[in-house]
Amino acid sequence: MERILVIGANGQIGNELVTALALQHGADNVIAADLGPRNPFAAAHYEAIDVLDRRLVARIIDTYGITQVYQLAALLSVTGEQAPLKAWSLNMDGLLNILEIARERNAAGKPLRVFWPSSIAAFGPGTPQDNTPQQTVMDPTTIYGISKLAGERLCQYYFSKYDVDVRSIRYPGIISYKSPPGGGTTDYAIAIFHAALRGEPYECYLSADTALPMIYMPDAIRATIALMDASADRIAVRSSYNVAGLSFNPAQLADAIGRQRSGFAITYAPDARQEIADTWPHSLDDSVARSDWNWQPRIALAALVTDMLANVAVVPQEVGQAA
Ligand code: SER
Repeated sequence: MERILVIGANGQIGNELVTALALQHGADNVIAADLGPRNPFAAAHYEAIDVLDRRLVARIIDTYGITQVYQLAALLSVTGEQAPLKAWSLNMDGLLNILEIARERNAAGKPLRVFWPSSIAAFGPGTPQDNTPQQTVMDPTTIYGISKLAGERLCQYYFSKYDVDVRSIRYPGIISYKSPPGGGTTDYAIAIFHAALRGEPYECYLSADTALPMIYMPDAIRATIALMDASADRIAVRSSYNVAGLSFNPAQLADAIGRQRSGFAITYAPDARQEIADTWPHSLDDSVARSDWNWQPRIALAALVTDMLANVAVVPQEVGQAA
């Protein structure tokens, strides 16, 4: 029986992951954790913890007999640029705390499986942008991307040196409607739906032809759980796996929305986020994830647009803290 701790549970991914894990393992076996007050979670348990407080996290892991930790607390690319030192400390020390706890537990014969998200932000201007390979040049320019690349190396290090069972995905931009996005460069692809549903034109902060890898949340959750459920001998990559959903640019997304909401209009006013997006891949080669643990995306653009338009609630966009 697994007992699962999700840190960063109030964030865009955490929120939906908790629901999926509670369905799979039973609400009593899922412990949601974040800084703030509890969201209305599917999990039976909630703990207000700061991932930077290693002793407290270790105590929670012991108290509940945790066997798997998802460490999702992070500052993303845009919020990270506003507070680089805070982003570095949260993103790196948060991961290190969990890896250290897992190392200690391994030594004590109580292994802990760890999930940690990397990102397309770990790539940079020297990376081939089309069909970006699993193994390639990685020269990130944002503090977020630098923390992701360093984190990937730490994951590999803790696996090689201490046999920590850590697993990771380089998430593309994640599109979802249940919680507001948290300060990322790819978030235009969510904000655009809110404008469409308000019946307003959308002013996009990226240029029309800025293609980026994206994934719809149900595919992202499925990939995450499939990776965590795969037997250890299938996991050849201990840094982080490329996982692709679909790729499109703002003009293509606006066009797909326009087919389902006639009259929808988009304008373009690129800002500093354009410079970040310009250093990221256009599309990913995820063949290693496909062959290692049978990854296969399911949701294509038209279906994504239909589902988003049916489910997005018209709420103001917020910038939050958790990934
Ligand atoms: N969605 C993230 C961002 O835009 C990328 O991992 O920062």
